[in-house]
Amino acid sequence: MKSSAVRTAIFPVAGLGTRFLPATKATPKELLPVLDTPLIQYAIDEAQAAGIERMVFVSHPSKAAIERHVMDDVRLRSELRARGKPELAAELKEASFPVGSDEVVFAMQNEPLGLGHAVACARDHVLPGPVAVILPDDLILGEGCIGEMIEAYRNVPAGHLVATMQVAARETRKYGILSVCDQEGRVLRADGMVEKPDPDKAPSRDAVVGRYILDGSVFDDLSAQTPGAGGEIQLTDAIARGAQRVGLAGFRFSGQRFDCGSKAGMLRATLHLAAEDPECEEVLQEIVASRSSALAA
Ligand code: UTP
Repeated sequence: MKSSAVRTAIFPVAGLGTRFLPATKATPKELLPVLDTPLIQYAIDEAQAAGIERMVFVSHPSKAAIERHVMDDVRLRSELRARGKPELAAELKEASFPVGSDEVVFAMQNEPLGLGHAVACARDHVLPGPVAVILPDDLILGEGCIGEMIEAYRNVPAGHLVATMQVAARETRKYGILSVCDQEGRVLRADGMVEKPDPDKAPSRDAVVGRYILDGSVFDDLSAQTPGAGGEIQLTDAIARGAQRVGLAGFRFSGQRFDCGSKAGMLRATLHLAAEDPECEEVLQEIVASRSSALAA
């Protein structure tokens, strides 16, 4: 049984967000809202609920708005109080971090050289022990995924634990697919993973999505790594390399995942949350009714 706790979460947020242009020309993808909450906030809430002590955001100088969202804004709060909105000011304070807090670090990735490179940029800022990596554009609703993984990690005989979900056979070529040797409850023991295989070559249908708990040695593997697919430093290559040494397992999380890096996923997430929100329900019903009568006409 491992004793080292997961104290740090890394949030890679330096990507170009090309699939959402032109929306992401001036607004970082991670600040796009699902209903009224930016993607990054869901990720922060998930990490906080899991008891993470330090959050390292790997950002880009052109994405300073992320830092403005994460950190407390004393001027805005005092303006809100002056305008008779003290509750709103208090809510904003609650959801942000005081400037100078060592709970939060912003590291820069000056060029988007890949997810693995982004994680490597966090190296000097992480607390000792294994680290969590959370991709904010993979929105996972329901039970906090990283919290479930941290809980499971204590008893998993592997240094790297990756979130997995089962996908249809035709979908395997969109994901890293785990080569599963054994299953115990939600935990899948694996002997490797294959990047984006065709359905007939896929070793399973357990696809890796954007939550990871990684043994600290991943930083050494990343620093030794040459560019892989797309000329980028890939996180999956470093995980695969370390897997032979520290072991690899998958975790079938209980929540529902939305690929908010794509328009379809963002729309699905928005509709899913709107359907649960009494304020939006009426709007949804209106749209469904008008579409049905248009189809019937
Ligand atoms: P994605 O590949 O989904 O994001 O990376 P992207 O590259 O920004 O988006 P597209 O494909 O061009 O539309 C997943 C996460 O990793 C971060 C992204 O910001 C996103 O949160 N990332 C990606 C980095 O921080 N650095 C990189 O070099 C690449």
